[in-house]
Amino acid sequence: MKMRRSCFPRCGFARIMGWLRIVLGILVIIVSISSLFRFYSAGFFVHNEDICRHFYGIKDVYERFDVRALNDRVAEVLRTMESLQEKLETTLQQMEKNKDVLDQTNMTRLEHKKYLEVEVLRPLYSAHIALRQIRLPKIEGNGNGTLKEEPLINTFITEEIRKYITPKENRIVKVNFYGTEKIYNTIGHACVLMKKELQEYMDYDIGSYCKDDWNLAQKLMVGGCDPLPRRRCLTRASKVYQKPYPINESLWKLPDDRNVRWGGYKCRNFGCLSSKNPKRGYTKCTGCFEMEKEKLKWVANSSSLAVDFLIRDVLAIKPGQVRIGLDYGVGTGTFAARMRELNVTIISTALNLGAPFNEIIALRGLIPLYATLNQRLPFFDNTMDLIHTTGFLDGWIDLLLMDFILYDWDRVLRPGGLLWIDRFFCNKKDLDDYMYMFLQFRYKKHKWVLAPKSKDEVYLSAVLEKPPRAI
Ligand SMILES: *[C@@H]1O[C@H](CO)[C@@H](O)[C@H](O)[C@H]1NC(C)=O
Ligand SMILES: *[C@@H]1O[C@H](CO)[C@@H](O)[C@H](O)[C@H]1NC(C)=O
Ligand SMILES: *[C@@H]1O[C@H](CO)[C@@H](O)[C@H](O)[C@H]1NC(C)=O
Ligand SMILES: *[C@@H]1O[C@H](CO)[C@@H](O)[C@H](O)[C@H]1NC(C)=O
Ligand SMILES: *[C@@H]1O[C@H](CO)[C@@H](O)[C@H](O)[C@H]1NC(C)=O
Repeated sequence: MKMRRSCFPRCGFARIMGWLRIVLGILVIIVSISSLFRFYSAGFFVHNEDICRHFYGIKDVYERFDVRALNDRVAEVLRTMESLQEKLETTLQQMEKNKDVLDQTNMTRLEHKKYLEVEVLRPLYSAHIALRQIRLPKIEGNGNGTLKEEPLINTFITEEIRKYITPKENRIVKVNFYGTEKIYNTIGHACVLMKKELQEYMDYDIGSYCKDDWNLAQKLMVGGCDPLPRRRCLTRASKVYQKPYPINESLWKLPDDRNVRWGGYKCRNFGCLSSKNPKRGYTKCTGCFEMEKEKLKWVANSSSLAVDFLIRDVLAIKPGQVRIGLDYGVGTGTFAARMRELNVTIISTALNLGAPFNEIIALRGLIPLYATLNQRLPFFDNTMDLIHTTGFLDGWIDLLLMDFILYDWDRVLRPGGLLWIDRFFCNKKDLDDYMYMFLQFRYKKHKWVLAPKSKDEVYLSAVLEKPPRAI
């Protein structure tokens, strides 16, 4: 069997040679196309404006066309072609070597068919598809050279990604109620850097179950592929999901373990997430899965540190005027729970970094906002009464990034809204930089407390009020 696989009857030999010729022909064409594009990028046409205009204003065309993506695709096809050619040549050499055996042996037609199918047609087909998927620019108008190249479209091969990012034109009317002609589904531009992972993420059968891959999704988001594309598969859920506790109980009770899918965490239940367990799998907000400790936060008089303000005192700054807000940090929603008891609605940002933070916040009856640092907040300007931040905006953060974030918070806070910086900490030597950042907005200082954290680090807590801005 092993011997026969590499042997052919004479007639088959001729056919293979025919195939080979076709393949080599295609190769030559592709090489010419790709070198033509290199010719373009070398700027040949740019020097000669007349020729340029003659070719439908090719300069304009070139500027908006994603040549790099095209190059990548072509390179991919070239690689496929090359390996196919090598394979065919090796096979031919084998046949040449075993000429005498060849005379006596027949490859069955079935084997011959299989060989063509698997070794020749399949790579040819995939190369063909890869070429097809290149969206060459459409030349529109009468030589005016308008050209539509959809952003990023040539970066991805996976059909589902391409379907997602292709803009969807309105079906009936030209302009929809948004006032747009089409809808763009967006993905984060850094998705380009995580192409392999994104393709893995988007590899599913439409309508079937998704893989249990929230971890991969989060890795993509944190890596800058944010927003992620939507998917058309069914999210897995706990088979034994229990009805949640009523709200008068859920706020201060660890949820039922069965309501969380624990795959992807080190722990398998809420008890395991206790600060006593060194293998709990998360580092920030240690102890925040212990409700007895959580109950003391922001309400107890006993706290020794001056940087810990009480909710009561902060709300007293603006009695009755704080109704909605955002808690930007790492935690299990305790701040929102306390505020809920005071009839203030707080949305808590949460990422599942090592523990099911989103799940526990939701199971406590509060609203988790699954958001990374990467994105502009999904709230309109001048809307929030309060932004509270604790636990993760520390001295590690890049100053420019911090600046963008603080300006975004400023945008979202309403005039008279409060920014509560809770236990921000950094290295002593960086303190001036960060103080400048917080003070640059000229907010009214209601509270401002510095306290040592360790030999080199300091805490800063503050409550600042956004002033009205008359333009
Ligand atoms: C090869 O196949 C041909 C027809 O398919 C047959 O006539 C011939 O006997 C076969 N030779 C061997 C060695 O099997
Ligand atoms: C080319 O575009 C200009 C403005 O963009 C327009 O005025 C002109 O009519 C167009 N020419 C053709 C042939 O479409
Ligand atoms: C919660 O409320 C329900 C009815 O609204 C009541 O039956 C139950 O006893 C309450 N639970 C607690 C712990 O107060
Ligand atoms: C906290 O302190 C206030 C006075 O500062 C007092 O009225 C209140 O009873 C104290 N609460 C607790 C739980 O100790
Ligand atoms: C919250 O609202 C409820 C219903 O309006 C009211 O009974 C309760 O006293 C309020 N609680 C606070 C702390 O204002």
